[in-house]
Amino acid sequence: MYNIINRATFMAQSFVSKALSENDTAVDATLGNGNDTLFLSEMVGKGGEVYSFEIQKEAIDKFNELLIEKNINNVKVIHSGHENMDKYLVKKPKAIMFNLGYLPGGLKAIKTEPQTTIIAVKKGLEILRPGGIMTIIAYIGHEGGQHETDVIVDYLKTLSPKEFSIINISYFSTNNNAPILICIEKSCNLNEGK
Ligand SMILES: C[S@@+](CC[C@H](N)C(=O)[O-])C[C@H]1O[C@@H](n2cnc3c(N)ncnc32)[C@H](O)[C@@H]1O
Repeated sequence: MYNIINRATFMAQSFVSKALSENDTAVDATLGNGNDTLFLSEMVGKGGEVYSFEIQKEAIDKFNELLIEKNINNVKVIHSGHENMDKYLVKKPKAIMFNLGYLPGGLKAIKTEPQTTIIAVKKGLEILRPGGIMTIIAYIGHEGGQHETDVIVDYLKTLSPKEFSIINISYFSTNNNAPILICIEKSCNLNEGK
């Protein structure tokens, strides 16, 4: 028996699971310890592909070892910022997950930054397949987190509701570290484009 209202990370996965099917392409924009990548890998199955972006080599090396140990072959771990995602993807993704901020247990100074996050969000929404989902977990209580969230929200407010359905879930909580979850669905009625 699971709670319906859960941690933001589980809620994000729950939304993504509604959009993603076997053989799809998906993006984990912030690999970190790889929890979302493992989830996406399982969702898309052997015929699908997951592209996972991370700027910290140590996190990548550690996760690559896990991929070998678990014999997972459908994940491409990319040592590059998510703002470059369009350069690496061969097929359009059906889901893109962001978990912003710093690596749990890592250096707090190495974190996502508004100027690159917003490029990645814009590119991600452009390449997302119609009917696809983008989730963004943002930590408004962390240093710089409120500004990063404001930059994203200000941009999302400019998007056409005909093209994107957007929700913003925040927790009734006294805990300043509670994140918010933004979930964006690209309309099914749009053309696939390029
Ligand atoms: C909150 S952690 C992600 C947690 C991860 N989802 C997990 O399951 O462990 C955020 C990660 O984003 C990484 N990061 C920071 N800037 C980035 C960028 N421009 N592109 C890709 N990853 C970035 C950080 O190094 C950090 O590991």
